Order: sequence, then structure tokens, then C-alpha cells
Amino acid sequence: MPRPLPDDLLKVPHRRDVSFARLTTLGVGGLCRWLFEPTTEAEAQAFVRACAREGLPWRVLGGGSNLVVLGDLEMPVMKLAFPKEIRREGNRLTAPASHGHIALAEAAAGAGLAGLEFASGIPGSLGGAIRMNAGAYGREWVDVLTRYRFLTPEGELVEKAPESGEFRYRWSFLTGGRVVLSATADLVEGDPATIRAQVAEYRGKRGTSQPLSKRNAGCIFKNPPGLSAGRLIDLAGLKGLRIGDAEVSPEHANFLINHGRATAAEFAELMAQVQAKVREVHGVELEPEVEIWRE
Ligand code: EPU
Repeated sequence: MPRPLPDDLLKVPHRRDVSFARLTTLGVGGLCRWLFEPTTEAEAQAFVRACAREGLPWRVLGGGSNLVVLGDLEMPVMKLAFPKEIRREGNRLTAPASHGHIALAEAAAGAGLAGLEFASGIPGSLGGAIRMNAGAYGREWVDVLTRYRFLTPEGELVEKAPESGEFRYRWSFLTGGRVVLSATADLVEGDPATIRAQVAEYRGKRGTSQPLSKRNAGCIFKNPPGLSAGRLIDLAGLKGLRIGDAEVSPEHANFLINHGRATAAEFAELMAQVQAKVREVHGVELEPEVEIWRE
């Protein structure tokens, strides 16, 4: 029997038994037994502090666009539900981590601020994007990030500027119980029409090379240094490999898609088969780019 959760934790807004299929873009996974949705930084802090004090393992969920959940999860999950406010000071935009990533990029474009065009096709939450140092077309978040706020694993609130070593390709130190609360991008004033044209070009590129009409979790594997995971999987002849409703996208081999009724187990198996074949054909070990959760 799982032990009861402490009272101060239960004061944080929460829901029970929410399907991960509804919380992730890939649309698979079991039940999230405890979904905590703090609406303020103080509530998020109360959550982290209570879990730290009790020695309770927990996880933080963003937009669920880069996540594959394998089965039910009994441990508390926190998904920030802060008010969707964007603050502008000069050319700087600050948004809460729970803000939609694409919506933030659109707001920047709408305000005539350049620098976040690369983000306009990357789904998920801002917090998830910062934590992954999300990027596209040669740009990534650390290029524009000027300040951010986060909670330490003990629940202390820190606000700081990024420093070297904190962010790398699709990686940041904001894992292991650290939670991004908000981020500030330092942008430059630009011509709104030029910014919109760049956004449209990136969207168009993505739309033709990626299977955006099907449920997916973005790129499944990281690009090995100097190589392209998509190309390696493609050359290994794996496009269209299908287990149940889970398939290696015929459009972009580094995307796995859910045709509707795929299960977490099918995706786990498909990922393992792709890794094994790429190892056999190319001698390269593919490392997941998506996060994988299991109890
Ligand atoms: N390619 C193939 N076959 C395929 C897919 C790609 O041969 O099935 C080739 C392409 O022709 C190209 C090369 O592989 O020559 C690279 O492909 P692409 O331009 O699509 O970029 P990518 O490296 O696969 C990366 C990011 C994407 C991001 C795009 C655009 C990673 C793992 N992926 O993809 O990010 O949208 O660049 O900048 O870094 C994500 O992070 O989830 C993601 C989708």
C-alpha cells in the first residue's frame, strides 16, 4: 500500500487518476495517480518542500510533448498551472514556465521582437523547453535566455542569469528535482513582417519534413555527434516499421507516431527495435531525446 500523502502537500490543488494519454502529445501511458497543479510559485514551492521533507520521489510535467510514459505512476506529479501572463520590459519578455512555448514565440513575433522565431514550431511548455534547452534551425534557448527562476530540490527559489555549463545541446542542469518557474528572453526589435516571414518559413519546413498531423513526441532520439538520427534510422530501412498502432514515421524516421490506439509497451518495443537495428547496421548507439517515465 502506498503511504498517505501529508496534509500540507494535499493543500496544493490536485486531481486523481488522470490518464497520461491526455497529458502527453504521444497519447500513451497509464494513469497519473496524483496530479498536482499549483497556480502560484508559493504552491509549487510547498509541493517541492513537502516532497523533499518526506523523502517522496516525484516528477514535474510540462506540456507532455517530449515524454513517453510507460505504465501507471503512483508518485506525485507536478504540472504548473500559473496564470498565462507575459511581462515585457524593454526588449525582454518574461513568461511563466507553464506558458505554451509556441504561444510565447507567437507573442514575441506579434510584439515585433526577434529572436524566438526558432521556437515557433516547438510544442510543449516554456519550462520544458528551457529544461531541454530546446532548439531548431541552429538556434536554441540558451542563445536568448537572460534570466530564469527555478526551485532547487529542497524547494529554495533561485533567480539567476545562465552560466556556462548549465546548458548544452538538448540538455540543461535543470533536472533531478529542479523546477523551472519562469524565464526571461532577451530579444531584439525587428521588422514584424520579416519576423512573421521567418516564422512562416520554419513552420513550412517542419510541416513538410515532420509528421505533424499524427500524435507524436517530436524527435525520439538525440542526434549523435556529427550525425543525424533521422538519417541513420532511415538508412537502416526502418521507416514504416510498425508495432500495433505505433509506427516509425514514413515522413521523418526520427519521429514515432501513434495511429490512435498504440500502447506504451508498443512504443517501448519499437524504440528498442530501432536502437538494435541502428546498432547492427551503423554501429551507433542511439540515445533517447524524449524523456521516459516508468514507476
Ligand atoms: N533525414 C533523412 N531521413 C529522415 C529524416 C531526416 O535522411 O527520415 C535527413 C534529412 O534529409 C537531413 C538530416 O537527416 O539531411 C537532418 O534532418 P532534419 O533537417 O529533419 O533535422 P533533424 O536533425 O532530424 C533536428 C531536431 C528537430 C528540429 C529540426 C529542425 C534533434 C534530435 N532534432 O532534426 O527537433 O525540429 O532539427 O531544426 O535535434 C525535437 O527536438 O523533437 C525535434 C524534432
